[in-house]
Amino acid sequence: MTKVAFIGLGVMGYPMAGHLQSKGHDVTVYNRTVSKAVAWFGHFGGQQVATPSAAAADAEIVILCVGNDSDLHEVTQGEHGVLQSMQPGSLLLDHTTASADMARRLAQACEARGIAFVDAPVSGGQQGAENGQLTVMCGGTPEAVSRAREVISCYAKAITHMGPVGAGQLTKMVNQICVAGVLQGLAEGMAFAMKAGLDTQTVIDAISQGAAGSWQMVNRHKTMIADQYEHGFAIDWMRKDLDICLQEAAANGSDLSITTQINDYYRELQQRGGGRWDTSALLKRLV
Ligand SMILES: NC(=O)c1ccc[n+]([C@@H]2O[C@H](COP(=O)([O-])OP(=O)(O)OC[C@H]3O[C@@H](n4cnc5c(N)ncnc54)[C@H](OP(=O)(O)O)[C@@H]3O)[C@@H](O)[C@H]2O)c1
Repeated sequence: MTKVAFIGLGVMGYPMAGHLQSKGHDVTVYNRTVSKAVAWFGHFGGQQVATPSAAAADAEIVILCVGNDSDLHEVTQGEHGVLQSMQPGSLLLDHTTASADMARRLAQACEARGIAFVDAPVSGGQQGAENGQLTVMCGGTPEAVSRAREVISCYAKAITHMGPVGAGQLTKMVNQICVAGVLQGLAEGMAFAMKAGLDTQTVIDAISQGAAGSWQMVNRHKTMIADQYEHGFAIDWMRKDLDICLQEAAANGSDLSITTQINDYYRELQQRGGGRWDTSALLKRLV
């Protein structure tokens, strides 16, 4: 049993922290909106406290799952941040999708205090978090990543050590670049099928098991045909992720011309009020 602090009980963090407590770890949670922490405590037990630093004070491993770089700054180095109270020898494990630079900066701040750091963004969405079937990409030393595995395995089906600090975030960027391209291709294909007068469902049934098939095609075509987007992975989050990818590409010299264009399409959908729509809503621009 490990003494764990979990900061950020959002769509992802709430079930992830629940898996840890259900599997016998001693979990203390913090959430900015207190009602979510109270609900979590009512559901799973454990402990809930008023600040990140109170949660982290005697934890062996502190886990973060917040929104972006500036949220990370606040919960780690802000007035009540976890670095105020974490003990030397403990481990900070970050599941937020953030920049690789932020991971490196956090690792440096940790190192100065004798704390290990692992960046470990996740893939698999709300369903993966609830079912304990996430895919996790880790950056850090082999020792730190192997220590992180003991808790990550409570909610993941795949854990890969990608390299030094920042390599987890860089791998997640590759994931998001690939997903954006697949979604735009799917949207264009389905819009073409509709305009060509084909039965779109029959088209998908015919092609989804072949070379054009994808997770997005299998899991999103029905809601795309029904023009339903109030679910899934929000465009606002994807914009945040693609902005991080584009910044990194500017620094490493990658050509992300298609990703840049798709990021603009998502911006257009945000301007139409679709920030919370699922990322498959790219079809809305075309039909
Ligand atoms: N949702 C997905 O399908 C998915 C999939 C893969 C990766 N991710 C990534 O995982 C991370 C979390 O996603 P999510 O869907 O769980 O987001 P979410 O539901 O919006 O939850 C965000 C959490 O962070 C907390 N938070 C944000 N800013 C904070 C601050 N400044 N101080 C303290 N707490 C703060 C929020 O507290 P409040 O409750 O007070 O707002 C909430 O607990 C993001 O980086 C996202 O990109 C999400």
